[in-house]
Amino acid sequence: MVKKIVMAALILLILLIVGGWFFMRGFGGMNGNMPGQGGGMMDGGMMGNDNGEVEDMKNDSLADGGTSLPIPPILKDENPDPGKAEFTLVAQKGSMEFLEGKPTDTFEYNGDYLGPVIRVKTGDDVSIKVKNEIDEATTVHWHGLEVDGDQDGGPHSGIQPGTTWNPQFKIEQNAATLWYHPHLLHETGEHVYKGLAGLFIIDDEDSENLDLPNEYGVNDIPLIVQDKQLDEDGQFTYDLSMHDVMMGLQGDTIMVNGAINPYVEVPKGKVRFRLLNGSNARIYQFQLSNNQKFYQIGTDGGLLEKPVEMDQLILSSAERAELIVDFSEYEEGETVELTDKGTSFMKFIVTGEEKGPNKVPSKLVDIPDPDETMAARTRKFVMSGMGRNVSINGKQMDMDRIDEQLKLHDTEIWEISNEGMGMMGNNMGMAHPFHSHGTQFLILDRDENPPPPNERGWKDTILVAPGEKVRAIATFDHKGLFMYHCHILEHEDAGMMGQFNVE
Ligand code: C2O
Ligand code: CU
Ligand code: CU
Repeated sequence: MVKKIVMAALILLILLIVGGWFFMRGFGGMNGNMPGQGGGMMDGGMMGNDNGEVEDMKNDSLADGGTSLPIPPILKDENPDPGKAEFTLVAQKGSMEFLEGKPTDTFEYNGDYLGPVIRVKTGDDVSIKVKNEIDEATTVHWHGLEVDGDQDGGPHSGIQPGTTWNPQFKIEQNAATLWYHPHLLHETGEHVYKGLAGLFIIDDEDSENLDLPNEYGVNDIPLIVQDKQLDEDGQFTYDLSMHDVMMGLQGDTIMVNGAINPYVEVPKGKVRFRLLNGSNARIYQFQLSNNQKFYQIGTDGGLLEKPVEMDQLILSSAERAELIVDFSEYEEGETVELTDKGTSFMKFIVTGEEKGPNKVPSKLVDIPDPDETMAARTRKFVMSGMGRNVSINGKQMDMDRIDEQLKLHDTEIWEISNEGMGMMGNNMGMAHPFHSHGTQFLILDRDENPPPPNERGWKDTILVAPGEKVRAIATFDHKGLFMYHCHILEHEDAGMMGQFNVE
């Protein structure tokens, strides 16, 4: 008992040191105006704007929208046969001038900061040669892709410097906006932070037949949002403070596709955005500067059944959302900004050109009703701890230990809960985005309530608020060894990860 009190006092002290950062409000506050999520997702203390004060971001004080938004190129398919796709990806060192006159040392794929877009079609046989030209081991994981464990690029698939890894797989899932990034044990945070990340887009017949904006880079625009901290020399330092270890690394500058405060010209019409939160830890609360409503049409693993109208969107690390914004009522030259909790970080400039569908299709794709009776079992995952002690089911990652054994083709319910601060109160602590490899989930409920409409689609990363319990259902159709973990990369690197084997 005494021990418990001392522990509680210690934790309280740490909380006080970390200051307002760790202050939480349980489920009050934001819920009412947050159609995006079921719970008080921002309550991890990420924003500290309970009293309306805005976080101290540098975007406002840096360049005034002078850079045009870089559009990541689509990687060339080296195999002319339809139905077959071959790509080469080279992880290498590079340099980018984010701040004028101060080139930043980066990691990148194929010479593009971040990396090119790998774009394939359902049914394709894909082969990717991944060369490692950085001077340390790395891996490339296809986040959201349903492939066997040995092709998945997790921590066991290390690519030594100077060598090539050649995964081959068939695309067996529906159209979706996925992504790829390194996954080396304890190094994922740093590798992603330095610039290793790219989009992986799947098209299928349904997505191609729908009347959606589909001109890549014109009215179908990828937005990879990341926050960075540039030091005086313009470098990305990955030198974790205690605060970074606890909350995950959060920078003071938001970048989109590797540009600070960029602008992009959009036609006068409906424009689709493929949003990826490629940040190490930050949870965004996206909004347009004029509070205009938009539609969410897709989640992590594909299109929704129908568009969901909303005025803000919460996206945690690794989550994706496809949105449609209607610019048809704008005058030529009119602008609107994209903001995160009041910080504007990019600008849309509407041109005079009219383009795209007249209306957003009211029906997108079929999503099966999740059927609990299909589940062979319920498996529990409890996220808890803080700082370097973050864990799942009380355990930290061990490459030599398989935590969960699954049967191939089984459907399971995963009950994912966030214990928050445990003895200090469940509703205190921070939100963790739980991610699993190897499958896509449908959310059954959040604290026994049905998920919000914009989460009624395929998900591979699920944000779980302190004290919250989420149940999700999935079928495991790929064999091999896979990871589940918190996608705050500093938590993952600290060991908030486990392994499951499907056989
Ligand atoms: Cu985005 Cu385990 O990965
Ligand atoms: Cu993943
Ligand atoms: Cu976490």
